[in-house]
Amino acid sequence: MPKEFTVTPWKVEGEVDYTRLIKEFGTESVDDKLLNRIKKHTGELHHMLRRKIFFSHRDLNWLLDEYEKGNKFYLYTGRGPSGNTHLGHLVPWMFTKWLQDKFGAELWFQMTDDEKFLFNDKLELEETNRLAYENALDVIALGFKKGKTKIFADTDYAKTLYRQALRVAKKLTVSTTKAVFGLSESDSVGKHFFTTVQSVPAFLPSALAGRNIPCLIPHAIDQDPHFRVTRDIVHKLGYYKPAAIHCVFLPALTGPKGKMSASIAETAVYTTDAPEVAAKKIRKYAFSGGKDTVEEHRKHGGNPDVDVSYQWLRFFEEDDKKLERIYNDYRSGKLLSGELKEILIEKLSVFLKRHQDGREKARKVLDSYIVKD
Ligand code: TYM
Repeated sequence: MPKEFTVTPWKVEGEVDYTRLIKEFGTESVDDKLLNRIKKHTGELHHMLRRKIFFSHRDLNWLLDEYEKGNKFYLYTGRGPSGNTHLGHLVPWMFTKWLQDKFGAELWFQMTDDEKFLFNDKLELEETNRLAYENALDVIALGFKKGKTKIFADTDYAKTLYRQALRVAKKLTVSTTKAVFGLSESDSVGKHFFTTVQSVPAFLPSALAGRNIPCLIPHAIDQDPHFRVTRDIVHKLGYYKPAAIHCVFLPALTGPKGKMSASIAETAVYTTDAPEVAAKKIRKYAFSGGKDTVEEHRKHGGNPDVDVSYQWLRFFEEDDKKLERIYNDYRSGKLLSGELKEILIEKLSVFLKRHQDGREKARKVLDSYIVKD
């Protein structure tokens, strides 16, 4: 079959066919039966579950079996600190926060300053390490619980991580890193080695406690190749395979193809953008599903399925009724593209203001979230 899209941990391009990804990656879809099972424990479903923004998983049923037996799980997720955090990164983190609240779970949050040094020719280690702590403010601003949340930058937690990464590395061959990540002989040994470090938090709490603790990793589907490797190897080391739940990508502002990328400023809204800056970007760049003239739009209506402002509201507007009204009004032509953009701008302005306040407050408590050795 021809490949019209690419999804790897370092590149997402083209129009992603998520149903096909489930088949190609060998994951399971999040179906209504599973949603009902989750709801039994959480009382309500997060809007990103209701809308199947989290659409795929590995071993969630097993995780819930264990939970129902009283074997509680911890959460693990992360960030590759290559620049400022953008709204796309917040998608798995907001959902992780909900999981922490609903299941009373501990969170281990990895900042891969080593990865971003190894994979980006322009970034020095000092810079990726600085960005790790800058990005940690975004994590804390979302309200993760102090005492239940451990954030670490790889190079500052290296002694603990390295001992475990070695055990993974001993079982990982270069033919696997070539096959899974598309790496080649001319890639640095650092790139081939890196995935071992991302594997470690999937079993570290078990290794430290001396007993197996189930792990759930929420992330966007691009990171799945890492955890395919992790699951194989940690099982051989005697640990549980981590479960995972995967989300689709928040699209770039400029169009529904690919994902929001931190390296192209006009495709992204950063958590540090002033609300007026975000508003300008949306007015100027947000891809519209509207018609060329007001007259035509009123007559034929717009297409919310490709309109980026509408698509973003699916991630950020929690109220189903409101969202449905916007969908119908846009489809019928009652709501114009410009008006739809203003609805998104209003929503994000409130969100950004609150988040930026939270970021400033987070500076004072940052140390109490960080683990180092
Ligand atoms: P990074 O920094 O590329 O991305 C951080 C998290 O955000 C997700 N993501 C997105 N989600 C929705 N829409 C988007 N447009 C979007 N872009 C990125 C990513 O899937 C990720 O969950 N190597 C990792 C860091 C890492 C990690 C982990 C991530 C270390 N351990 C465990 C997830 C789970 C990275 O560079 O992520």
